[in-house]
Amino acid sequence: MKIPTLVPIRLGIRSYDIQIHSGSLGHCAELLSNSVSSDHIVLFTDSVVEALYLQLVADQLKQLARRVDSIVIPAGEASKSVAQCEQLWQKLVELHADRETVVVALGGGVIGDLAGFVAASFARGLTLIQIPTTLLAQVDSSVGGKVGINLPQAKNMVGAFWQPRAVLIDPHVLSTLDARNYRAGLAEVVKYGVIMDESLFDFLEQSLEAINGRDPETLSRIIAWCCQSKAEIVESDERETTGRRAILNYGHTYGHAIEAVFGFGEYLHGEAISIGMTCAARLAVRLGITDAALFERQTAWLTAVGLPTICPTERHAELIAAMKHDKKVAGGRLKLILPTRIGSVEQFAAPDDELLAESLRNTFP
Ligand code: GLY
Repeated sequence: MKIPTLVPIRLGIRSYDIQIHSGSLGHCAELLSNSVSSDHIVLFTDSVVEALYLQLVADQLKQLARRVDSIVIPAGEASKSVAQCEQLWQKLVELHADRETVVVALGGGVIGDLAGFVAASFARGLTLIQIPTTLLAQVDSSVGGKVGINLPQAKNMVGAFWQPRAVLIDPHVLSTLDARNYRAGLAEVVKYGVIMDESLFDFLEQSLEAINGRDPETLSRIIAWCCQSKAEIVESDERETTGRRAILNYGHTYGHAIEAVFGFGEYLHGEAISIGMTCAARLAVRLGITDAALFERQTAWLTAVGLPTICPTERHAELIAAMKHDKKVAGGRLKLILPTRIGSVEQFAAPDDELLAESLRNTFP
């Protein structure tokens, strides 16, 4: 086996490594042997990943623990609910899970967030290992410790910061990811370029053919690049208190509102973020914070990879009301992350509802 690319997350006693290696799922016992020491592992996955990788990973994990139990959850955002979470807590009781039990989350962002929250909350916290299998989870949600579930009105409203003990990324699994989920992950990829790294954005513009063709080398490079970017942010602001980590929420206040208003699962998270980044860039142009060229470059890239950029409804008042339920409201004031140039964003107080509604219209600039 080749040596995996390592991206360390340095958080004192909560430090861990992201290991990136094509084919690593088939070697996960070896790669996780330093991180897992327990008699009991509970492996969480969803009904799609079950058919593809559950057996392979469960067989590997049996080399690390005497007992490996698996729990399969219905695929889709609707599973990130209070009801599902309660069922999982009950299931852990039935499986006689205790504080020594290790939770392994094998799947996309839904599984990582949900199993992660179950790990954070059961018996006041179980060791968590993330094995993300979608592009979105590999570049963003499995790294940095945010875990949680949705309330009907608001995305990720109940959650915790719970750092994993290890993150294992196998870029090869992206070859079996459906096209819609693959594209959705690309929204989070380009986000890093816009918010903090012009050279990444340039690379993404130059690599469109390789990205649309899922070229393995290009994807491994992009995943490591994004994880490195996320590591830098999480290390400097683990619990989102200084404003640094908040830049990762670019497009998310709009996007979360779209997800909630349409009902969780209708739009994939990455699709909603693509529309959300478009609205945020439009607002930035309207406010004179950035120029139209940024909006056009970003929109051209999102369109070229097949992501939506059109706000799909004229129910603007409903969307704005949902935006105000976002976690980014503090002291009654909604804050938005807006781009100033490619590679840089800042946090601004949201303007009045009329300007917000304008940013949701697809006609400007
Ligand atoms: N996905 C945003 C964050 O991890 O902070």
